[in-house]
Amino acid sequence: METTGRQRIELQKQAAARAALDFVAAGTYLGVGSGSTAALFVGELAASGITPKGAVASSADTGRLLAEAGIAVVDLRDVGRVPVYVDGADEADGELRLIKGGGGALTREKIVACSADLFVCIVDESKLVDRLGSFPLPIEIIPIAAVHVARRISRLGGHASEREGFTTDNGNIILDVTGLDMRDPIALEHEIDGIAGVVSCGIFARRPADVLLVGADAGVERFERARSPRQGEWP
Ligand code: 5RP
Repeated sequence: METTGRQRIELQKQAAARAALDFVAAGTYLGVGSGSTAALFVGELAASGITPKGAVASSADTGRLLAEAGIAVVDLRDVGRVPVYVDGADEADGELRLIKGGGGALTREKIVACSADLFVCIVDESKLVDRLGSFPLPIEIIPIAAVHVARRISRLGGHASEREGFTTDNGNIILDVTGLDMRDPIALEHEIDGIAGVVSCGIFARRPADVLLVGADAGVERFERARSPRQGEWP
């Protein structure tokens, strides 16, 4: 039977998820992100026989998946840092900067990514872009700030719409924003994160991935970012 486009993407995600096992060591902590690719990673981890000491989950959903897989879920406050964080993304560029938050877990994902020594991002090849910005940018905000943030976003050239019927694990709402100019994602991340009422935005440019594993039909391509000695001092 012929493989459909959806099945191809699924196989690519699975291959990237499996490749991320190379970065996980038994007996250590790790962080695990959210979304379908991260969920595949949890399945791969459970099947691998590698037993981590415990895992920090970036969402309640991932916490449940980890627990079902028999992996101890630990609180980031108790472990402080994790040696490795594995998560998916909605877009990734050549400098390993990302758009995240399609699943709405961006704030906890950013916190765990910033608490990780190594951030391994796993995606299918459709997520690789020349320039970030086609995927609507998720922004988690405090509910009463909705009008204020939308106004500020509009001044930046964007259009914000509230994600309907969605509440984050932190009890907040998400604005999905189109039309922003992302030629300088670090500056834009800084600017948006500084708006009153914004909890965090889904641009991961100040803390990009360190390793990007891209599942493709021919196998998994691996990209690595040159890391500076200042690595570890994330925002
Ligand atoms: C969740 C995320 C996910 O990593 C992102 O949406 C990608 O999801 P998927 O692996 O299902 O394509 O940022 O907040």
